Amino acid sequence: MVNAIGTSQQCNPRHIVEAKDLKVIYKTGLGSIEAVSGVSLYIDSGEFLGLVGESGSGKSTLAYSFLRKVPYPGKIVGGKIFLRCRDIMSFSEERMRRIRWKEISIIPQAAMNALNPVYRVGDQIAEVIMEHEGIGKREALSRAEDLLDLVGIERQRSRSYPHELSGGQRQRVMISMALALNPSLIIADEPTTALDAIAQVHILNLFKELRSKRGLSLLFISHDISTVLELTDRIAVMYAGRILEVGPANKIFSDPLHPYTKALIRAIPQIGGERGKLCYIPGSPPNPIDIPSGCVFHPRCTEAFEPCDKEEPELIEVEKDRFVACHLFSRK
Ligand SMILES: Nc1ncnc2c1ncn2[C@@H]1O[C@H](COP(=O)(O)OP(=O)(O)OP(=O)(O)O)[C@@H](O)[C@H]1O
Ligand code: SF4
Ligand SMILES: [Mg+2]
Repeated sequence: MVNAIGTSQQCNPRHIVEAKDLKVIYKTGLGSIEAVSGVSLYIDSGEFLGLVGESGSGKSTLAYSFLRKVPYPGKIVGGKIFLRCRDIMSFSEERMRRIRWKEISIIPQAAMNALNPVYRVGDQIAEVIMEHEGIGKREALSRAEDLLDLVGIERQRSRSYPHELSGGQRQRVMISMALALNPSLIIADEPTTALDAIAQVHILNLFKELRSKRGLSLLFISHDISTVLELTDRIAVMYAGRILEVGPANKIFSDPLHPYTKALIRAIPQIGGERGKLCYIPGSPPNPIDIPSGCVFHPRCTEAFEPCDKEEPELIEVEKDRFVACHLFSRK
């Protein structure tokens, strides 16, 4: 049987990671928030996938789900996640700990605040290496310095404490930590936000180099759509916990199909303003504890018609490798 994103019910060996009908909720005092609502999405081996959408659409929650590490009070309550065809939902926490960093690592959003303030940054990187590879401190520290060098930080900075580094340098330390064990998949959640333009280019080039040298796969989350376009092969557009469109990056940009994707692309400033940053889309994202019935985008959609407030459209393939969840296409 073939599902909406063209994969069989079994896993596909080409996919490094794949979520199937994934559901994640946060139980809060005000009610239950379904931050990821029936998402099916894969990343091919060696592929760079971009994930875009307004704030609160569920990008980070989906990213952490791939590591089975959704922050409290979040919980994966449905669906499956396959990592290289292994169903990681069935793994013990100990087995997941061995996988994180080594096979799949994350550069967290606001990475610059993720370091432990009381340890030197070199020691923190070395700790990750020692824990997984069982090598001595001296060798691990030397590897940590190589990694700092790779992300453009002087080796002697390994002796600095986080507060002695700038926000951009701390962000790069976290990037070096994510690279430490040579994982085949990196999830980068807004990895370049704290970096100046030169450091941004350095990091983006580093990702490209790691792909060509080591076959790195990347899930790249960013509000900077022009960077996503430049770096990634495909883009998934997320809104209110759902994937509304997936397709090749150039097509998403030049010929967006879903009304929400069109609005996102229109919101990129053409002249002036900060390059590629998301601007304003009329209306606001839904209240997460009161998601609209039917199509989640219908209250803001200028193309809404009769079934849109009642029936939720499925994500279907509308042309080769292009998937859209919109009645404008499903009703054709
Ligand atoms: N710890 C939490 N407790 C309760 N709700 C949460 C928590 N973390 C996220 N959420 C809710 O889950 C939804 C998705 O949040 P998430 O952080 O995944 O979105 P995002 O797309 O990454 O947003 P941003 O672009 O701002 O980083 C939002 O409605 C958010 O309010
Ligand atoms: S399903 Fe209807 S409301 Fe939703 S995006 Fe398509 S046209 Fe707009
Ligand atoms: Mg986020």
